[in-house]
Amino acid sequence: MHMHRLEKIWLTVGVSMLVVFLLVLGIMTFGRGIAPPNEHIHRIDPAKVSETPPFDKPQITKIGDNVYKAVMVAYAFGYDPIPLEVPAGATVHFEITSSDVVHGFQIPGTNVNVMVTPGEVSHVSHTFDKPGEYLIICNEYCGIAHEMMKTTLVVK
Ligand code: CUA
Repeated sequence: MHMHRLEKIWLTVGVSMLVVFLLVLGIMTFGRGIAPPNEHIHRIDPAKVSETPPFDKPQITKIGDNVYKAVMVAYAFGYDPIPLEVPAGATVHFEITSSDVVHGFQIPGTNVNVMVTPGEVSHVSHTFDKPGEYLIICNEYCGIAHEMMKTTLVVK
């Protein structure tokens, strides 16, 4: 079959674009594989929360100038870790997952209000300008002691 010059050019362009696309895709996939462990994770095996970093050690850590990361696990019926304490003015990046059923994570008086679903990691941040005791409550019905599921964040 005879091929026109123009068709050849367009075929070459098409193939080149495909190659570039595959290269970019490959680089992105490779990049994900070698991403630093601090990168946000969004999926987790709910049966292995207690052995999956960083949720194997729920804790609040300082990551910057009055910036904190709170790695938390919601379970029936409470939250890990306790106690939670930060200085006034602290910005807290919460990363929360559930080790059993769907829970809520709400801090009344702030805009923090997320659903915590097993298998997923919820991310929410807030800057606590005013000192005080902030109640953290579960607002998703999760069982017999749902009403009792709460903890406190102390801002000093
Ligand atoms: Cu947990 Cu309601």
